Formats: sequence, C-alpha cells, structure tokens
Amino acid sequence: MDFDIDRLIREEVKDLPIYNPGKSPEEVARELGVFGCVKMASNENPLGPSPRAMEAVREELPSAHIYPDGNSIELREALSRKLGVAAENIVVSHGADEAFDLMAFAFLGPGDEIVVGDPTFTSYELAALTMGAAVVKVPLRDYRQDIPAMLAAAGERTKYVVLCTPINPTGTTVSRHELEEMLESLPPNVLLVLDEAYVEYVTDPDHPDALAYLAGQPRLVVARTFSKVYGLAGLRVGYVITSLPVRDALEKVKLPFNVNRLGQVAALAALDDEEHVARSRELNERGKERLYRVLEETGFAYIPTQANFILVNNGAYPDLFERLIANCVIVRAGEAIGVPGHVRITIGDDAQNDMLERALRAITGGG
Ligand SMILES: Cc1ncc(COP(=O)(O)O)c(C=O)c1O
Repeated sequence: MDFDIDRLIREEVKDLPIYNPGKSPEEVARELGVFGCVKMASNENPLGPSPRAMEAVREELPSAHIYPDGNSIELREALSRKLGVAAENIVVSHGADEAFDLMAFAFLGPGDEIVVGDPTFTSYELAALTMGAAVVKVPLRDYRQDIPAMLAAAGERTKYVVLCTPINPTGTTVSRHELEEMLESLPPNVLLVLDEAYVEYVTDPDHPDALAYLAGQPRLVVARTFSKVYGLAGLRVGYVITSLPVRDALEKVKLPFNVNRLGQVAALAALDDEEHVARSRELNERGKERLYRVLEETGFAYIPTQANFILVNNGAYPDLFERLIANCVIVRAGEAIGVPGHVRITIGDDAQNDMLERALRAITGGG
C-alpha cells in the first residue's frame, strides 16, 4: 500500500508555506558562483555579540550537560530590574518568534481570527494558520499600520491584533496617540500584541513606552528580543511582558526548557553591557545617515526608518536585488516579504556600508 501523507497531515498544515529566510553568502556562492558577499538581509547586529556575552557562554559551556532553568529566573529578574516591571510578568522565550507561537497555541483554533498589518513580519500569520485560525490582513497606508482600519477589522471572532513597532519591513512606528486609540477602542476581550523586536533602535520621541500601559491593561502583550540590538540572533532568546492571566496561558503551552543555558547566560551578560548597546545604536544611526545620503545621491527613494533596516524603492532598476548580488551584496528581495518593487537593506558596519555604496554607485553609474 502506498504511503499517503495527505491522509495523515492536518488540513491546516497542508497548504502552509515554508518560511524562507534571507540568502546566506554560502548559498549565493553555491547557487550563483558569486563569492565573498556581505549579507545585509536579516537585520542582525553587525557589531556581533557583546564581548561579555561571549565570555559568559565560554564559562557556561562545561555545564552544557545540565538542563537549563526552565523558568529563566535569573534572566527574568535582571529584566525586571532593567525594565521596572515585576519578574512574574515576564516569560522568556526561544526568540520573539516563540512568543508568537505561544500566543497561537494558547489562544487560537478554527473559527478564530487575528488582525495584522499587510505586509508585516510573517511569524504571526504562520502561527495562526497552523492552529487553523484565520488571518485578517489590513493593508499598510503610506507604509504605516492603519490603526482605524485595523480597529474596524477586529470583530466577534478576533482573539488578538498584532502591531509591530517599528514594523518589519518598512521601519515605521505606531505613535503614542495610535497606541492609546487602539487600547481604548478595541473590544475588551481582544488582546493587543505589540512586537517590539527593534524598539531599542527607535529615536522618535513620540514612540510610546508600551510598558507604561501594562498596569491597567491585562490584555496587552509586549514581545521583545535579544536578536537585534543585543546581537544574539544565533542563540535564540526573546521575552514577553504581559499580565498574569496571559502569562499563565503562555506558560501552559511553552516547552519545559525552551531557552538553553548558553542563551540564558549570554542574554544576562548582554543586558548588562550597556556600552555595547550604546555602540550598536550609535553605529546604526551613523550608518543610517550615510545610507540615506548614498541612496539620495544614487537616486533611490526610501522610507525613513526607526529600525536597523531601510526599505528602498527599486526605482529604475526592477532587478535591483539581483544586481546587488552580482555586486556581492545580499539584501532581502521585496517580493519575498510583501513589498514587491523594493529591497530591504540591513544597515551595516562601515565595511558593509562601503560595499553597498560601491554596489549602488556601480549599478547607477556613479550617482
Ligand atoms: C518584527 C520582528 N519580530 C520578531 C523577529 C524575530 O525575532 P527573534 O530572532 O527573536 O525570533 C524578527 C526577526 O527578524 C522581526 O523582524
């Protein structure tokens, strides 16, 4: 008898797309024969991990045979001191990504809906679809999340609305006023999930301090990560700050040892290394101003960003993604992330930005 996967696999899972991350330099070398590329595609920290985090990992390695603390207590306490929220309101996760899975496991099933921007980071959608829930996508307006339209889209079946701020892939933010409007106008039984993966890069003084709203808002769920400004994307540590009832629900569905020992100690050390965070932010600001100038000089329109990446309009070069690769610079193709006609470029260090500048000038004939 033939093996028939379709009789086994859940209906919801059959048609799920497989997440397709940005290309690595190794892939580009293998597939296209272009060697020595820089990767400016996945919004990683070009400074790397904090030296203190690396030291902490080295010290922890001999204990790798012992299970980690399933409650990440030390890290939660350090986050509590840093953020001024109680440790009991924090759940440490396997990257912010796990937080979106936990939300879906805990709250979604067939017949439920979530509301998200379109385009936005795909993990919310994939997690919801896996659970058989529907995803209501509200188009961005001028590259920003359309708060009134998202509010209007939240109905009887809606379990939660996700706002990403700054939003991947455009780098725009939700203002204080917009967050307040959302919190005041959402039906009481709808959760509001804020994805703040890039919040440490924000310089706009009108960006809300989401944590200041937690006290009166049991339905607010804030997800953050050590993958971006803290430079630990490879160790997979994120966290959620939320009310006790939501925390309890998330704890029920999380794996017992969701964050490994190396990730926990690295995150603890990175949290303390304020100098590394400050240098990372400063490098990003300097790189941003430089890339804005280069893009202007080479004739590319871009969306001003509050994150560590810039969304750039392909303009006269529909194949900009391929042309950049031919010039040894890997960026993220807009088609893959819901913004055809654009590329998303991670702001690099000086050497990476040099490569990008050279590539853009070569493509456009100088600028
Ligand atoms: C908006 C957004 N949220 C979450 C993540 C995932 O973060 P993590 O590495 O913590 O899973 C990313 C990664 O690029 C992102 O862009």
